[in-house]
Amino acid sequence: MFMTRHGEFRRGLGWRCQIFTPIMLCLLTLIICQVVRPVDGLDLFGFNVRMPSLFPRTGNVLGGTVQSLEKRAANKTLWILAKTYQGQTFFDEWDFYSGPDYTHGLVDYLNKTEAIASGLAYITEDGRANMHVDSVTPLTLDEINSQTKLRPSIRISTQAKYNQGLFILDVAQAPYGCGTWPAYWSTNENWPNDGEIDIIENVHSSVSNQVSWHTTANCTLISPGNYTGTAGSTTCDHNYMSNTGCGIVDQSIASFGPTFNAKGGGVYAMKWDSNSIDVWFFYRSAIPDDILTGLPSPGTWPLPSASLSGLGCPIDTYFRNHMLIFDMTLCGDWAGTSYEAAGCPGTCAERVADPSSFVNATWSINSIKIYNQTVINTAYLDAGTGRTGYSFWAAVFALIAALLLFL
Ligand SMILES: *[C@@H]1O[C@H](CO)[C@@H](O)[C@H](O)[C@H]1NC(C)=O
Ligand SMILES: *[C@@H]1O[C@H](CO)[C@@H](O)[C@H](O)[C@H]1NC(C)=O
Ligand SMILES: *[C@@H]1O[C@H](CO)[C@@H](O)[C@H](O)[C@H]1NC(C)=O
Ligand SMILES: *[C@@H]1O[C@H](CO)[C@@H](O)[C@H](O)[C@H]1NC(C)=O
Ligand SMILES: *[C@@H]1O[C@H](CO)[C@@H](O)[C@H](O)[C@H]1NC(C)=O
Ligand SMILES: *[C@@H]1O[C@H](CO)[C@@H](O)[C@H](O)[C@H]1NC(C)=O
Repeated sequence: MFMTRHGEFRRGLGWRCQIFTPIMLCLLTLIICQVVRPVDGLDLFGFNVRMPSLFPRTGNVLGGTVQSLEKRAANKTLWILAKTYQGQTFFDEWDFYSGPDYTHGLVDYLNKTEAIASGLAYITEDGRANMHVDSVTPLTLDEINSQTKLRPSIRISTQAKYNQGLFILDVAQAPYGCGTWPAYWSTNENWPNDGEIDIIENVHSSVSNQVSWHTTANCTLISPGNYTGTAGSTTCDHNYMSNTGCGIVDQSIASFGPTFNAKGGGVYAMKWDSNSIDVWFFYRSAIPDDILTGLPSPGTWPLPSASLSGLGCPIDTYFRNHMLIFDMTLCGDWAGTSYEAAGCPGTCAERVADPSSFVNATWSINSIKIYNQTVINTAYLDAGTGRTGYSFWAAVFALIAALLLFL
């Protein structure tokens, strides 16, 4: 009982308020604690971690149901942003390759100083990383045939190397046009032992993207498989058919080329884990919300356009330590040999001589975001904690209030 300042017991309405107000507060606290649930897998205020429960965790009201606890006990896979290439700093962590083209293209790859000085690599006012094939310098056929002068172009690769992950490229524009052979891909210096993943690649004015893989012997693309595209060669071994690789062509006729660019490009997501290497293409108007909000959840996406299953190609055996690469070559091993069959005018070398051929040979990149897979171990939820932790604190509040009241 409380005493008044004059030493009298308080009575009447005032006395009842002294008792009921704290009781009502306690009840309110209890109710709020049961209604506001801890978010799955997150440690809100540190309250729901290893708190002893005063209530049976199988109880329906105070401890949460058995079913909800089982659901939370399953591990959760989260994709956590590990690296972003975007905006003014985009080129800071890429190397510009300036040697001869490995695929015999008629290009002169510029080093970083030259690339920036000549305006072939720059960041636009709205923060896009742009890379162009030179479309102003005329060349003579003699210069091209003798390879004394070739057409300036760009080939860049990340300084960092990646082992698995979710690589989300938001691309506004991809190069195309007769004679061009652009690619967004990944590999390392130990090719083909560490594998190659071609995420965006095609030649000339193709309208559909082709995803492909190049490896050492005995890696096979399973067809049909869990993807929407159309498989071509299923032998990924680089020794087979002059390194054709195994590949899948996207079913969309706007996944490459003029329509792709006219629609503002889109998102190419590549997920690489021990089970498979999957590639999704999303039109700009159909990019999943979880990508836009930076919390990608590939488990909720539709079937990928392309997928190399570990069942036909044990992923960890064939792929490791990749850098990402953008390049734009001209003619060469693929675009040169397929030039006439694609219905392109004249010869590929003549095409290269004329700068106006390459006005659409441009990579324009909004961002690349790389996410790492993190498994949240939710096992602690199984130890009589989680939501029951709140019940514990509610009980503590109730006890303190009661003590204050009756001391
Ligand atoms: C969750 O992950 C832990 C640690 O990796 C593992 O021991 C456990 O079996 C997993 N639980 C479930 C339900 O997958
Ligand atoms: C993701 O985690 C793996 C293993 O810890 C690591 O090798 C890799 O570099 C990480 N990726 C990024 C982008 O940080
Ligand atoms: C870049 O290339 C130009 C022309 O070949 C050369 O003069 C210059 O030294 C190079 N710069 C670097 C940093 O390699
Ligand atoms: C590929 O498979 C063949 C036949 O199964 C086997 O003889 C060969 O050693 C394998 N090669 C590699 C690199 O695994
Ligand atoms: C396709 O997915 C199903 C269901 O997850 C799986 O059982 C099957 O092995 C997958 N196929 C391939 C080729 O990976
Ligand atoms: C470049 O793109 C424009 C717009 O799509 C098109 O009209 C033009 O023919 C293209 N030029 C070349 C050389 O590809």
